[in-house]
Amino acid sequence: MIIAANLKTNLTRAETTKYVDEIENFLETNSISQEVLVFPAMSSLNLHEGKVTIGVQNAYATKNGAFTGEIGQDHLEEFGIKTILIGHSERRHIIGETQDDLVKKFNFYKDLGYKIVYCVGEPLEVREQGQEKMMEYISAQYEGIDTSYENLIIAYEPVWAIGTGITPTLEDIVTIHKELKEKSPAPLLYGGSVKVSNAKDVLALDGVNGILVGSAALYVDHFCTMIEYAQMIKNQK
Ligand code: PGA
Repeated sequence: MIIAANLKTNLTRAETTKYVDEIENFLETNSISQEVLVFPAMSSLNLHEGKVTIGVQNAYATKNGAFTGEIGQDHLEEFGIKTILIGHSERRHIIGETQDDLVKKFNFYKDLGYKIVYCVGEPLEVREQGQEKMMEYISAQYEGIDTSYENLIIAYEPVWAIGTGITPTLEDIVTIHKELKEKSPAPLLYGGSVKVSNAKDVLALDGVNGILVGSAALYVDHFCTMIEYAQMIKNQK
């Protein structure tokens, strides 16, 4: 199972260091063997050694250069980072990254062998148009993406479920994951309002290989509880 925390624009560097240290202690004390990924804010990156994999929420498709406000491969390498989140709905819909931008970024970091967590998911108005339209929309988010890339992880995150406290039904998650599994053999995470109260049920579903957690992951004890659930469920699955 893969348990990932997207910290978004939260937690300073000092807070993030404490946060990651607490997770490391938890993994050690409880002999957890799950894969744990944490995506801190850009200025909270630090050198880190341990079981937790630190990734970036974004970087530009460049080694370095004139791209004001962006960071590139050189900056990631300084912190030993080899994991990147690409296609998150907030970058698609708030920042305005297009599928072409994402493909360019994907290919750049793929060529460097990075682990890529690639996010897909539909907005509410698309979902309301029915299953067929919804799958068409999500399929377009796979365009140009090497779905058989060995270091790829896909996260299905319905836009309307992110940060809203609303989730699809468990049956809907199973149905969509089944369809998405046909598009790529990569591990498939569910994300969007995963909390301690629903994580166990979501993790236990067929076709769910882990979770990507935003708001609820800001509480380190909640995030650790979800890691513990994953460990329990992995043993049962
Ligand atoms: P959420 O965010 O858990 O707050 O819904 C998930 C995400 O954006 O990855």
